[in-house]
Amino acid sequence: MIGIFDSGFGGISILSDFHNKAPEYSYIYFGDNINAPYGDKNTKEIYNSTKNAVEFLFTEGAVLVIVACNTSSARVLRKLQDEYFNKKYKNKKVLGIIIPNIENIIHQLPPNSRLGIIGTSHTIGSQKYQNEILDKRNDVQIFSKACPMFVEKIENNKFKSLGFLANIKEEIAHYSNKNISYLLLACTHFSFIKKEIKQHLNPSIQIIDSSEIIIKKTQEYLFRHKELKIKKERNTILYTSGDLVLFKKISLKLLRPSSKRNLKFLKHSTLSNN
Ligand code: DGL
Repeated sequence: MIGIFDSGFGGISILSDFHNKAPEYSYIYFGDNINAPYGDKNTKEIYNSTKNAVEFLFTEGAVLVIVACNTSSARVLRKLQDEYFNKKYKNKKVLGIIIPNIENIIHQLPPNSRLGIIGTSHTIGSQKYQNEILDKRNDVQIFSKACPMFVEKIENNKFKSLGFLANIKEEIAHYSNKNISYLLLACTHFSFIKKEIKQHLNPSIQIIDSSEIIIKKTQEYLFRHKELKIKKERNTILYTSGDLVLFKKISLKLLRPSSKRNLKFLKHSTLSNN
């Protein structure tokens, strides 16, 4: 199985793409909704939650886990790989979401581009995207903005609330005078409000949605790592640490229609971030 993990619903955008573009595999998803948003947590809590979540997916049979959470990938993944996963799980792999995104961006951006980035406070504050992009493309000008309320609103199913729509408008206004040509959504939750974000941007600005990149990069990775034997039974199990009824309802709404298939929703209750 391919495991996909996020602090909550954000990774469902990645799961949708996997269902659509690589339907032959079996998937196991874990949304740590009880602990979301990770943006409000300290680094130690994010470290422990991410460790527990990946380990849970390994125990349930995943041989490859995609950490579909920019916050975890930015703050703790490298350390966790070095200190823990690479030592304990030699035959299993964990992939983050930031490096594939950066590899894509440095090839995609034309010379002297002006790039905007939005993400959680942790992701923007880590400077990971900014530093790694500038390291390889010093012609690019980067503007970044943390949007700390977005994840919580999406987790609470407030997509259409007037307060949230006003908050989106307010945060995106940051880019009204930056003359950017590209806006990177550096948070998987933000895929679900792409339309609302676009509405407040100059129409010529192209949105780069990290979710769409990950499937392509994972397929390339699997091609290079044929030793990873992934089950091909076309099943998907979705676990949440939060409220199962709500998780099922929102996940079904967020999974794009063509990606509906054999789905099983389950509650996983033993995880905590300690
Ligand atoms: N979807 C997660 C991300 O990509 C949200 C993290 C959070 O819960 O703050 O960063």
